[in-house]
Amino acid sequence: MTKQPKRYLITSALPYANGALHLGHLAGAYLPADVYVRYLRILGKDVVWVCGSDEHGAAITIRAKKEGTSPKTIIDKYHTLNKSTFEKLGISFDYYHRTSEQLHHETAQEFFKKLYEKGGEFEEHTSEQYYDEEFDQFLADRYIVGTCPKCSHPEAYGDQCENCGSALSPTELIDPRSTLSNKAPILKTTTHWYFKLDKHNDWLKDWIETGMLDGEQHHDPKVWKKHVLGQCLSWLDVDGGLKPRAITRDLDWGIPVPLADDKAKGKVLYVWFDAPIGYISATRQWALENGKDWEVYWKDDESELIHFIGKDNIVFHCIVFPAMLKAYGDYNLPVNVPANQFLNFEGRKFSKSKGWGIEQHDYLEEFKDFQNKEDALRYALIRNMPENKDSDFKWDDFIDFHDNELVATIGNSVNRVLSLSYKYYGGKVPTYDATAEFGYELEGEVAATYESFLQQLARRLDELEEDVLAFNFRPAAAKMMNVAREIDLLLASTEPWKLQKNNPELVQSIMHAGLQGVVALSVAIYPFLPFTSNKLRSLLNLSTLDEAIAIGNNMVEDLKNSFKNGEPIVVAGREIEKPQLLFAKINDRKDKSRLATIERQKEKLAAVLAAEKATNYPEVKPIATFDDFQKIDLRTGTIVAAEKMKKAKKLLKLTVDVGFEQRTVVSGIAEYYQPDAIIGQQVVMVANLAPRKLRGVESQGMILMAEDADGKLVFVSPANGFPNGWVVK
Ligand code: 2FM
Ligand code: ZN
Repeated sequence: MTKQPKRYLITSALPYANGALHLGHLAGAYLPADVYVRYLRILGKDVVWVCGSDEHGAAITIRAKKEGTSPKTIIDKYHTLNKSTFEKLGISFDYYHRTSEQLHHETAQEFFKKLYEKGGEFEEHTSEQYYDEEFDQFLADRYIVGTCPKCSHPEAYGDQCENCGSALSPTELIDPRSTLSNKAPILKTTTHWYFKLDKHNDWLKDWIETGMLDGEQHHDPKVWKKHVLGQCLSWLDVDGGLKPRAITRDLDWGIPVPLADDKAKGKVLYVWFDAPIGYISATRQWALENGKDWEVYWKDDESELIHFIGKDNIVFHCIVFPAMLKAYGDYNLPVNVPANQFLNFEGRKFSKSKGWGIEQHDYLEEFKDFQNKEDALRYALIRNMPENKDSDFKWDDFIDFHDNELVATIGNSVNRVLSLSYKYYGGKVPTYDATAEFGYELEGEVAATYESFLQQLARRLDELEEDVLAFNFRPAAAKMMNVAREIDLLLASTEPWKLQKNNPELVQSIMHAGLQGVVALSVAIYPFLPFTSNKLRSLLNLSTLDEAIAIGNNMVEDLKNSFKNGEPIVVAGREIEKPQLLFAKINDRKDKSRLATIERQKEKLAAVLAAEKATNYPEVKPIATFDDFQKIDLRTGTIVAAEKMKKAKKLLKLTVDVGFEQRTVVSGIAEYYQPDAIIGQQVVMVANLAPRKLRGVESQGMILMAEDADGKLVFVSPANGFPNGWVVK
């Protein structure tokens, strides 16, 4: 373990290039990394941050097929959109690569080949897998649905039942069908290569639990997030540990399996095998374009690797990719994987199909006239970042964070210092007396003087740094606010506007100190609010931190050292610019435009809810009299036999025991229930419905079912153990 790494290689999950990204993605893997990386940069660290588009995988081919276009058209569109949207939001990757690039294909193929040739890492398996004849392709697990063998849920996926949570394999599904053609798939034999994760189980477990690697302390597991460790251990401990995982697929889109073997024809690397190697290719491409050596970032002892991801990617970054890197040899393993949990949106999951949530590029478009919209969003997301548990984005919080914190604390403190300086000194920094006493109490019962105020700013910056470097960005944002609060406290305690007449010398020192506070603030906010920091620096006539980073100094340390010695950064006589507002209040009495922008967002959500209500709750039928109701004879019963009916896909023939006799009932539930799964099911049925012939079978009653918004039927069942034949009234 390197105490003071010489350089950092930071990665953020490569987003799939088959869709736009929403605010949850931003808060998960990109914004936290941006805060961290920007902070390292102003510490003068050697850091490279890579990301890019994940452009392979079945999801992209399927989308292309459904839209009648090519995968290339789809990835080009979303690669361009996502890359430019990130840039607009100040997400400052050093390189945004794409996995469809030749360099990536070569890197991934070389990786595969080396592991293959090494021997002992891969094994070949031939098995039967589902194949869609109409779409002419093998089906990824997610593209097969069927009835869950455990709970009879009719829409379970090939890898998991979302109703009962069971992990499944596609061949366990009852009545499987392809989501492409909606037809039953056939089984076809195919050969694939599997990565023998099982043989890596033991060292991985040790590495994750203790941080030990090859007999040395590689990292401190105590600084990893608890939920990350918990998830890793659940994989390593469950059912005898890790199992070999298929790393190739039958697909015509992806990186061809680089083996001169007939069995490899028509096969590509599994997207999750090639995607993390994308971090390596992105670094290589960055190095090529910048005349650097990529390998030291990945392989040198004094380099640190950190992956920023969302919790759904933990297993790949903490288990599978580290095992791949170790098997290959010479690569560093991540010293931390500070995965975030999920961000919800106004109490629900983001869902494009349901119109719930907002995508990054839509936010920029819809807030285009909103002053400082980029930092307003960044702040709202950081304040509510799902660092250790899921969190919820709400427009009302957005307004509160903006008006009560950005406007009221940062905006006002800066504005008061700059306007008073402008008013009293015509925009020139005044002189000061280092021993001037400000006459209020600083924290720790130090009486504030010019010097102790500067030292207090340095302490605030120390506290901020501690949180940022520990990946605690939410609390770090509060520490950033504390810098602005010191400025407020200075002004509120000394009230320079009251002193100006009788003690203008003291006011000069106060304003001089206030201006140093604004300098400190411009540094403190840079990782979180880079647009505001740049603006603030230009108001102070200082180079922006973006510009200063190129020189590679430790700007934070320089600043803190000056302040600890009671020395200013902006010195007497320097010009400052006329103040401008950094943020404009949303709840403003005169200008309602910003509030209107947010109201429009709320209205969209209200419209989604109203539409759902209309489908979920059809209108109530006209009034039935008590006598009408009395005519219906409802009885409890139990299904004792059930079978499919010929040429009637939707119908099942049921035998229902209603106590005094057994009835035959034809029921339209075949799409939702397998006959075997409903034997013993208790039901309520209409016992006096006029018999009706359906496909040649006389139905002697009707079973009560409830219908959900998607038209799915479920039994309206009496409590367990109810006798048959009881009257329901
Ligand atoms: O979950 C996802 O969006 C994946 N595309 C993440 C890949 S991360 C890395 F391995 F490339
Ligand atoms: Zn189930």
